[in-house]
Amino acid sequence: MKMKYLVFAGLAFFLFQACSLRKTADNGLEQRLSDQLNVLVQATDDSEKLPRSWTEEDGYKMIGIRDWCSGFPAGMYWYMYDLNNDAQWKNTAIRATEKLDGVQYYTGTHDLGFMVFCSYGNAYRLTGDEAYKEVILQGAKSLASRFNPVTGTIRSWDWGKWQFPVIIDNMMNLEMLFWASKVSGDSRFRDMAVTHANTTLENHFREDMSSYHVVSYDTITGQVERKQTHQGYSDDSAWARGQSWGLYGYVVCYRETGDPKYLKAAEDIAAFIIPNLPDDLIPYWDYNDPKIPNSERDASAAALVASAFYELGTMVADGQHYFDLADQIVEKLSSPAYLAEGGANGGFLLKHCVGHLPGNSEINVPLNYADYYYLEAIKRKHELKK
Ligand code: GLY
Repeated sequence: MKMKYLVFAGLAFFLFQACSLRKTADNGLEQRLSDQLNVLVQATDDSEKLPRSWTEEDGYKMIGIRDWCSGFPAGMYWYMYDLNNDAQWKNTAIRATEKLDGVQYYTGTHDLGFMVFCSYGNAYRLTGDEAYKEVILQGAKSLASRFNPVTGTIRSWDWGKWQFPVIIDNMMNLEMLFWASKVSGDSRFRDMAVTHANTTLENHFREDMSSYHVVSYDTITGQVERKQTHQGYSDDSAWARGQSWGLYGYVVCYRETGDPKYLKAAEDIAAFIIPNLPDDLIPYWDYNDPKIPNSERDASAAALVASAFYELGTMVADGQHYFDLADQIVEKLSSPAYLAEGGANGGFLLKHCVGHLPGNSEINVPLNYADYYYLEAIKRKHELKK
């Protein structure tokens, strides 16, 4: 009896120690992230504009609300509040969200999902404030205005050499349309999202489930006009962030519809990504850059993969390998190789991202969307551990 008691007490003590060690480790990281983001807030909060990136030479790259990255600062701050429940982050997030006033009426881009849902979407999720709900519904209406029934897709850009360009990134905007149908009861948003996802599945992917960046459609026949790249190495290469957008997008489509073809798409995209990851699991900016290994990493592509894998792992019976990979990616991103030292990097969290390498823009810099999806991945990791 005494022996049994001792074993039980020992076990209880071990579990208590393990839990408190884990708590300290997580709290340590969260505190660090919060302190670092505070540096960003202190430097940029006074401006009407929003921080997108930073370099030692040029300082902050500040953007207006029509930039595709305008919703991420608010989203980052909402995730920080979600992680540590500190009212200071809630207030900061509210301020960054309110700077976006009016963006929901903008119809000149497909990026409204990023701009409105990453900001107001998280605001509504965490506060339940009905005013935010109305903004998101209006954002969905603006996005829906870009849907073309002939092509069966939402138009991405209003500029460039293409008749009706649709980029793989556009898969990320569908979540807001699914949400709008659930909340408004109007099935048209969902129908558009499903049609766009199906058309993209048909035309954007190669045999190996890597994807083209830009597919342009003929607006008279609805047929594909061209398949090209804009931000990747070549038309036939696999631009790393594009692969991540596709993966994440089809995970969302499966969550929202339960249609197994979307789960298969997500798993097939994952099956392309996984063997192409380098040893440290942080992708080079394009999986086919011939300069690899002497090429740039893109931490934003890695953060997206980690976040998507945490959700994908919950959707399949044998999801542990996705969780394991996501854990390893988050661990790598949280190491000194990718996570900025306190006070450095302009207060952004992750180093070594690539925005648009062929455009010679944002190479080896911090990017607000990398931080957004990194924080989301950490949040998802915590939810799963619960
Ligand atoms: N949506 C633009 C990008 O991923 O760079």
